[in-house]
Amino acid sequence: MTTAALILAAGEGTRMKSDLPKVAHLVLGVPMVRLVFDTARSAGCDPVVVVTGHGADIVEALLPGERCVRQEGQLGTGHAVMSAAGALKGFSGSLLILSGDTPLMRASTLAGLVRAREEAGAAVSVLTARIADPTLGRIVRDGAGSVIGIVEHKDAEPEQLAIDEVNTGTYCFDAGLLFAHLDRLGAANAQGEYYLTDMVAILRSAGLGVVAVETDDPAEGMGVNTRVQLAAATRALQTRVNTAHMLAGVTMTDPSLVWVSPGVRLGRDVVIQPMTTLSGDTSVGDGALIGPSTRIEDSLIGEGAIVDSSVVRGARVGACATVGPMGFLRPGTVLAPDSKTGAYVEVKNSTIGEGSKVPHLSYIGDARIGRDVNVGAGSITCNYDGCEKHRTVVGDGAFIGSDTMLIAPVEIGAGAVTAAGSAIARDVPQGALGIERTEQRNVEGWADRRSARSGTDTQGSRTQP
Ligand code: UD1
Ligand code: CA
Repeated sequence: MTTAALILAAGEGTRMKSDLPKVAHLVLGVPMVRLVFDTARSAGCDPVVVVTGHGADIVEALLPGERCVRQEGQLGTGHAVMSAAGALKGFSGSLLILSGDTPLMRASTLAGLVRAREEAGAAVSVLTARIADPTLGRIVRDGAGSVIGIVEHKDAEPEQLAIDEVNTGTYCFDAGLLFAHLDRLGAANAQGEYYLTDMVAILRSAGLGVVAVETDDPAEGMGVNTRVQLAAATRALQTRVNTAHMLAGVTMTDPSLVWVSPGVRLGRDVVIQPMTTLSGDTSVGDGALIGPSTRIEDSLIGEGAIVDSSVVRGARVGACATVGPMGFLRPGTVLAPDSKTGAYVEVKNSTIGEGSKVPHLSYIGDARIGRDVNVGAGSITCNYDGCEKHRTVVGDGAFIGSDTMLIAPVEIGAGAVTAAGSAIARDVPQGALGIERTEQRNVEGWADRRSARSGTDTQGSRTQP
């Protein structure tokens, strides 16, 4: 039988003190609600429905094509579930309910929670944790140790506040039994809200089974309500992700200074140096050396490539290619294997051919550079005339002299040369020299005459009167 999931993500998150809805905040580069959604998917849940409300447009844009239902007026977690009743009509079986603000939950834990409910034939299984967070709901058990309810900290008696087993906000319900009893929720509590947590006592007093599963990784229960907890969750997920990569053969010289988003793929013997962030749809091939001080987003880095102190977005870096230091590769950049873009080089929407080098201080935009081309220091493509972008094509084996302005649209033939300092606005045929310079004129004795006039010698120091 399939398991459905319902993710509660309609709350404002007042304690974040933010214009952004809480679940849209990033943990290790990924919006929290997206992390929770992907975990539900990897636990095999189908459908996965998300309850949105506060900032719904923003939250739904983070889940393109996924099923969202709106909760009108955020009257509590129980009310959020009520607003999803229509969307889940007719579904019977295990329904996981997750909080959009609890991003460290693991798929295997969710599967265990479902199993625990189904094996016990219980109406609900609750995931609990032992963490010292005074704001979480407490798990109340009877003398025999059975769970009889959950009490919110604002409603708890002093002796209940001493309970160290807390509610992670993650449950597996028998969907039929949940919706059959949902109208019994009331809002007579300290916050005047419909608490989903009250369902535990309601089901129990209806004579139905309630079980609790305690997670062995308390980080899973970390709810994010404040920016302090956002940072703590980021740190915990960073440790979890980096540990897995290191155990799989990645070297991190200081893992506390490396941020790798979930979903980024790293090969064997990759080395990541400090102050480096890898995010989005990114993969790094075996033996690549990344960092220090590097940011890579949505890019493919080939085997053995080196990316030093650079920013790489939406680019493909071929095997054994090198980038930086201080490089900037923008979307649409393709560096072929063994090519090089060096210090202070920016490339956008361009292909740099195999073995070609752009070593220093260049801008290459909307260009196709062939194989074994050398682009001298300071050369740039003038691709934008103020209205439109134009292309530059450089043939295989061409030599672009330092400080060449390639005024696009323009094509440099294979094996052609441009003279240093030239502004090249017309095509240069294959094998030709393109030179655009006014001829140099030397004025003999000019410097000596100037110093005689101003009373300084040619070295610039004052001559004696
Ligand atoms: C909730 C639990 C608490 C548990 C904690 C775990 C309740 C009453 N309390 O408290 O026992 O220890 O989570 O982290 O459930 N939401 C909606 N609509 C609403 C209100 C909330 O969708 O009307 C969503 C929020 O966006 C959030 C989640 O539900 O993702 C939890 O809400 P939150 O207000 O953070 O509950 P807690 O006070 O943390
Ligand atoms: Ca919370």
